[in-house]
Amino acid sequence: MATAATHQTARTLAQDGQDGQDGTQADVDDTAAYERAFDAAVAADERVEPRDWMPDAYRATLVRQIAQHAHSEIIGMQPEANWITRAPSLRRKAILMAKVQDEAGHGLYLYSAAETLGTGREELLDKLHTGRQKYSSIFNYPTLTWADVGAIGWLVDGAAITNQVPLCRCSYGPYARAMVRICKEESFHQRQGYELLLALSRGTPEQHAMAQDAVDRWWWPSLMMFGPPDDESAHSAQSMAWKIKRHSNDELRQRFVDICVPQAESLGLTLPDPDLRWNEEREHHDFGPIDWTEFWDVLKGNGPCNEQRITQRRRAHDEGAWVREAASAYAAKHSASGAGRGVEQA
Ligand SMILES: [Fe+2]
Ligand SMILES: [Fe+2]
Repeated sequence: MATAATHQTARTLAQDGQDGQDGTQADVDDTAAYERAFDAAVAADERVEPRDWMPDAYRATLVRQIAQHAHSEIIGMQPEANWITRAPSLRRKAILMAKVQDEAGHGLYLYSAAETLGTGREELLDKLHTGRQKYSSIFNYPTLTWADVGAIGWLVDGAAITNQVPLCRCSYGPYARAMVRICKEESFHQRQGYELLLALSRGTPEQHAMAQDAVDRWWWPSLMMFGPPDDESAHSAQSMAWKIKRHSNDELRQRFVDICVPQAESLGLTLPDPDLRWNEEREHHDFGPIDWTEFWDVLKGNGPCNEQRITQRRRAHDEGAWVREAASAYAAKHSASGAGRGVEQA
């Protein structure tokens, strides 16, 4: 209880505007008190909320992570949208459209979460468009056949869920709450991919081969989605101390491999790794070495589709300018006429 009380004191101080921050001894003392309260709140698994005091580095880390996550959601719409007009049936088309729209919604929740930290969407999009912020490298691979839609759902959305379920307990409230809703939708995405691959795997020999080829191409990039090995991961330790992250990259990657192996068996498909086998002692699957040279290369911008993805994103942004202008004009008109509430969502 002492913890909560200390935290409350610092929150109240911050909200009362007593934090002058003009460098006086009183400010230094205040900052130290805020810091202690913040640490205690994080240690007690309390949620940090937008108006609470937080260290600058915590805020910056969250903005960077949430922005990268938001950018991945909207760039991730491109490889799959590529197949909407060519989906093999009306049912498949409806499912895929719903899925791609979900990803736009995820982007929206996440940009909103970043806004609660004081960084606007315009600024983040500008950083994406000028290459100053990244999105997940997985979306720099092409979708060559219809089976890729299945492999993305099963493996890419599957890896995203493995990464994101622990983020539902992230210490920053708005991010954690956005993740709860996103994870529910991601499980639908994962299931639709699995079901699509199952249909192909049980289809004609050509369809089975197409499903296998897609899994062969997407397996290793999806393992890379968990980020570099723990000993090379620049931000991991601090993020775990702040309870932004709850598990290390390697732990999550292992969890994902263990989930996928029996699913691949049920699908009748093979994971392209000759070293993949159950390790009795560790009670986990061992797997072969990951080609990190490829990972760093794609991250640096040399993947098959980096240029195409960002060009298309910039074009979509420019072509959508009139929609943003119209929405702002509409919102301004309504707030001026006193119609007020909720116009931001109009
Ligand atoms: Fe998503
Ligand atoms: Fe998804």
